[in-house]
Amino acid sequence: MFIDLKKRRLHKRLVREIDPNNLPKHVGIIMDGNGRWAQKRGLPRSAGHRAGAQNLKTITEFAGEMGIRYITAYAFSTENWKRPKEEVDALMQLLLDYLRDKNQLAGKNVSIRVIGDRSALSDEINREIDVIEDYTKDRDGMVLYLAINYGGRQEIARAVNQLCREACDGTIEPGQISEQMISERVYTNDVPEADLIIRPSGELRLSNFLLWQSAYSEFWFSDICWPDFSTKDFTQAILDYQNRNRRFGG
Ligand code: IPE
Ligand code: IPE
Ligand code: MG
Repeated sequence: MFIDLKKRRLHKRLVREIDPNNLPKHVGIIMDGNGRWAQKRGLPRSAGHRAGAQNLKTITEFAGEMGIRYITAYAFSTENWKRPKEEVDALMQLLLDYLRDKNQLAGKNVSIRVIGDRSALSDEINREIDVIEDYTKDRDGMVLYLAINYGGRQEIARAVNQLCREACDGTIEPGQISEQMISERVYTNDVPEADLIIRPSGELRLSNFLLWQSAYSEFWFSDICWPDFSTKDFTQAILDYQNRNRRFGG
């Protein structure tokens, strides 16, 4: 009890150190390590995915209260289909449960939008995505982009295909395609690029996450598995971000 109180005070002190004028506008989170979290506890991997999904609500609510405007959370990659069918099925079922239980996924005043290739998702999931996007669309606390069947390369290829169609239609000039025009055609076209990307679980890679949007992102890695990633860890990531010197090549 005493230790709990002490920990909470310490956390509060950390939060107070945050400079509200230097917050990252857009934070990307690679929610990794669910399987290892479960394995360590002798639980099935699906239990880890469930614990990870629960943690997303805690972290987004906390980030919203802190004043962070956009979070993109990597939930399922275009490569994750390579996993055993049972795991993919369990992940899709979990996704469906969470989308249906609207208040479970979308914390207070959080607006949800899904990014990724939705064509491979079931009709049921697609329907629930439409419902939750509509249900939360007027919330102005923070926007949570949930990346499902998302891959940075797929996203760029999709933008290129769109540009080709526009060139064929004669609305744009082939050979005149700019970075700006690609930025306008990625899923996150109405959001600033990712200022900070957080990856727990000990892996030091992007795994096809936000390739276009991470050109000048700051990275924050830790060994903690995602279900254990706490609001204190999030606070620490923001504090570390605020101590970085972002030069953008200048
Ligand atoms: C992240 O956890 C969730 C998804 C990729 C869907 P993992 O399932 O990758 O967990 P580890 O990396 O095996 O521990
Ligand atoms: C990245 O994690 C994808 C998600 C967290 C959704 P992975 O576990 O799939 O990445 P790798 O295979 O370790 O690179
Ligand atoms: Mg993993």
